[in-house]
Amino acid sequence: MSQTILIVGGAGFIGSNFVHHIASQYPNYKIVVLDALTYAGNLENLEFVKDKIIFIKGNIADMNAVSSVFQEYSPQYIVNFAAETHVDRSIVGPQIFLETNVKGTQNLLEACRKMEIKRYLQVSTDEVYGDLGDHFLNDAPQYFTENTPLSPNCPYAASKASADLFVRSYFETYSLPVLITRCTNNYGPYQYPEKLIPFFLFRAMQNQSLPIYGDGKNVRDWLYVKDHCEAIDRVLHHGKIGEVYNIGGHNEKTNLQITEILLEKLGKPKSLITFVEDRLAHDRRYAMDPTKMREQLGWEPRYPFEKWIDETISWYMEHQEWVDRCAKRSEEFRKQNYDQRKEETH
Ligand code: NAD
Ligand code: DAU
Repeated sequence: MSQTILIVGGAGFIGSNFVHHIASQYPNYKIVVLDALTYAGNLENLEFVKDKIIFIKGNIADMNAVSSVFQEYSPQYIVNFAAETHVDRSIVGPQIFLETNVKGTQNLLEACRKMEIKRYLQVSTDEVYGDLGDHFLNDAPQYFTENTPLSPNCPYAASKASADLFVRSYFETYSLPVLITRCTNNYGPYQYPEKLIPFFLFRAMQNQSLPIYGDGKNVRDWLYVKDHCEAIDRVLHHGKIGEVYNIGGHNEKTNLQITEILLEKLGKPKSLITFVEDRLAHDRRYAMDPTKMREQLGWEPRYPFEKWIDETISWYMEHQEWVDRCAKRSEEFRKQNYDQRKEETH
């Protein structure tokens, strides 16, 4: 019998890449996408698969909208990407993060509880673990494992950690068949141009300054989005119910390194770099230990950074109109976030 998969938040960056992945790998699945189409959601991202999916516009914070999708399609698999995802927006206005990320997740769990589902997968983030800081313990680098205590620092991370705890509680209390994945920073096509890589590409292509927060030495662990999608697929179909899986590729770079790579590849001068006032509660370093994914599920990253950052840059250069259309939707936020930041020297 054919399976129905409900991909929630499937019109955003990672969600739309995952819809492409499922459509190509599981041609027999019925794919239902539920997405509110916020500023970050975009039907253009699903253009290539539009004949292979059923798209429903709906807000997960609205229980009636969620219930009607579950009643109509009775999905066996549910993957939840839907979230407010930008840390800076969570600092400017945290309320919507509580509504979408926490209440929205709990609505999905409640809908699942009323149905016979096979698996619910919550797409979470390394940010729930907090900050690894600057210092290595006894000179050895530290990594987040699945047992690292949750210690979120910004409202976005707090909302994602709260959602994870609700997911866990539905497993412990109601034996709901849930899984949680926590991934590092993704890069690739269809990322909304307010996140570091597409935002700086967008600015550099127009010879505008690149505002690096603080000293630019914060470290992120960058993974190509297709690697993330393959990892989610592996956990969804083969992961152990009730468990958490950390996803990462040991590809740590400072923000300054990323910026210099982008400028060099675009042939733009380093003089575009400006250091500006730091992000509040700016975590210094994230880095994952993905041993469990490798040893238990045989997953490893397949897309090396050196090649796929080039592919990513080419994609953004070829899709400048897509980028411009997205960027227009967040002019007000850009003013709120950047206009007051003082320049600094480092
Ligand atoms: P995104 O901001 O690009 O997309 C989010 C999607 O969710 C959009 O399509 C949006 O319309 C939809 N959405 C937002 N609020 C909704 C609501 N109330 N109801 C229904 N749909 C709603 O996000 P992304 O970067 O693709 O991240 C997807 C998921 O992966 C998030 O849960 C995020 O926390 C997690 N994650 C992201 C990264 C990353 O580097 N981008 C890394 C690890 C984990
Ligand atoms: O780690 C996973 C997380 O990665 C996801 O859970 C989030 O949804 C996703 O947005 C991302 O969060 P970050 O805060 O790490 O990503 P962002 O692209 O916003 O910033 C990356 C780094 O670059 C961070 O240290 C802040 C810095 N930065 C960002 C912007 C937008 C700047 O210095 N200047 C900027 O203008």
